[in-house]
Amino acid sequence: GYISNTAKSTSDTEMHEPKSKSSIAILGCGDVGSTLAYTLILNPICNEVILVDPKTALLEAQVRDLNDATYRGNTGTKVRAGTHKDAGQADIVVITAGAKQKPGESRLSLLSRNLHILRSIFSSMQPINPDTILLLVANPVDILTYFARKLSGLPESQVLGTGTSLDSARLRGVLAQKCEVAPNSIDAYVLGEHGDSQFIAWSSIHIGTTPLTLALPPTILTPQFRHEIAAHTRGAAAAIIASKGCTAYGIGNIAASICKYILYDIRCVRPISFYQPELGCSLSMPAVLGRKGVVRAMPVNLDEKEQEELKACAENLRGIIEGAES
Ligand code: 2OP
Repeated sequence: GYISNTAKSTSDTEMHEPKSKSSIAILGCGDVGSTLAYTLILNPICNEVILVDPKTALLEAQVRDLNDATYRGNTGTKVRAGTHKDAGQADIVVITAGAKQKPGESRLSLLSRNLHILRSIFSSMQPINPDTILLLVANPVDILTYFARKLSGLPESQVLGTGTSLDSARLRGVLAQKCEVAPNSIDAYVLGEHGDSQFIAWSSIHIGTTPLTLALPPTILTPQFRHEIAAHTRGAAAAIIASKGCTAYGIGNIAASICKYILYDIRCVRPISFYQPELGCSLSMPAVLGRKGVVRAMPVNLDEKEQEELKACAENLRGIIEGAES
């Protein structure tokens, strides 16, 4: 039927003018927070970025340096220092604040330090605008997303974590190389934990309309191939951290994209970490992303092995949550 021009879909590659009066607060202005802020300036989607960090000298310097990137070009975004109270009134609050993994350290080992920081953030952020969307980035992101839901009092659909959206981008990148196809023609999801118990939903990977099992011959799509791809995806961050001490560009780009999907109500489907009532934890599953956060979860067809992996992942995360709550 006829699609009225008001329903024109806004692809997430079209340039957008910043929405008037929209603000994104970023808690933590270290490697990830400042990279996200820089990405938001270059692809303007909001007219204000509020940076919050207890290290006031670093905060002032980041604000000045980032504003130096706004005086030329088509950015309509201004950066300012703010308080946690200011952040609580923003359209989106991105939480990057926390300790980061040292080389060889797991994301889960950051839990006690970063949960302590999360608790202090929420005690100084209240009252939070009831329409605010929270986007957790700090690790262990799935556990922190679970607790942010409780600490913020916001509806589950408004408390998201970047989760396996970065792992899924890494998976698409390596499959694009192997299949000699553009990454954005590959629909591939890493689901579950943004961490060691993540799993690849191999049975639903498509290249265009072609299932991966048809796109690659069985002589290539072997168990060894799957194992190597999964190990590459799962170990990507650790390899980067071992050499440069952190990751920032991948996660900064992913977090900026998610902010765009939310602010412009793009309604694209992405793997995102959010509370799963039937599993009793927050982990990444496919969801429609829009101005309300998770507009709706998208059911995913998992084969038997993938269902087992999801169950094991949820049990692992629930165990960590129970330990942190005790
Ligand atoms: C990443 O996967 C460290 O969680 C961060 O890049």
